[in-house]
Amino acid sequence: MESRVLFSSQLYFPPPVQNRDNSIAPSLLAPPSRNALSFSFPTPLTRSAMRIGQPLVKAAPIVAEVDDVSRRDGVIIIKRKKLAVFVSGGGSNFKKIHEGCSVGSVHGDVVLLVTNNKDCGGAEYARSNGIPVLVFPKGRREPSDGLSSTELVDVLREYGVDFVLLAGYLKLIPVELVQAFPKRILNIHPALLPAFGGKGLYGERVHKAVLASGARYSGPTIHFVDEEYDSGRILAQSAVRVNANDTPEELAKRVLREEHKLYVEVVAAICEERIKWREDGVPLIQSKGNSDEYY
Ligand code: GRF
Repeated sequence: MESRVLFSSQLYFPPPVQNRDNSIAPSLLAPPSRNALSFSFPTPLTRSAMRIGQPLVKAAPIVAEVDDVSRRDGVIIIKRKKLAVFVSGGGSNFKKIHEGCSVGSVHGDVVLLVTNNKDCGGAEYARSNGIPVLVFPKGRREPSDGLSSTELVDVLREYGVDFVLLAGYLKLIPVELVQAFPKRILNIHPALLPAFGGKGLYGERVHKAVLASGARYSGPTIHFVDEEYDSGRILAQSAVRVNANDTPEELAKRVLREEHKLYVEVVAAICEERIKWREDGVPLIQSKGNSDEYY
């Protein structure tokens, strides 16, 4: 049986015809709008195991985890997701994700920006784009400005946040947040984990360590977040060549360009419910064009 999938979208469907839960009113579903993002694939909602080409994946069936998806009149509707982005610095990844939401390549919206540094570039960009800025954790100098861990979780829930995206946020994520958003917090790291990660390995230090090791490839890793630094399940990576005469700055620049592409692609996938968890706990991304392909 084939099912049609539609993504509700503020760009494609004007707000008055959207339901309060951001899904599309049934009257709009058939026939789909010329601009609607839709495709068909074999009933992913009901399959517990999927056929995949690679032997590694065949050995361990995939369990589809489905959230925020509903069926109406045989049509699968995927809710537009609410995203909270955490930054400490310039926020170039945050800006790319926000742009992806604005142009429709990401089926979601950044509803909150969280930072430990309220004057950073990312926070300024958020304010100038009408995105509320929260300070976390409480600062030593101005503790009244910041939120406690439980207050942060409460605010994220009040805003209906679906996913938390760490994009250059340098503080450890508190256990309260990890437990409140299981499998819903992502981080981007500028090297190929599990190497070159962990406490103290951030920013330029990462690229210096890569160069010192003699590794010929580096590149961003996007992983789920647990209670430790850089240790959660790896979701996506992209390889960047390390050149013989690279400086840390040059390598960082090339890796950052890849980060921008990879993070937007991954956020698009999570917003479209295309993350599937293999039985051994490895998360995979289902290809957009072919539901039998994973990467
Ligand atoms: C990126 O290199 C990211 O991998 C790391 O912090 C940096 C943030 O850069 N976690 P930006 O603030 O997104 O420009």
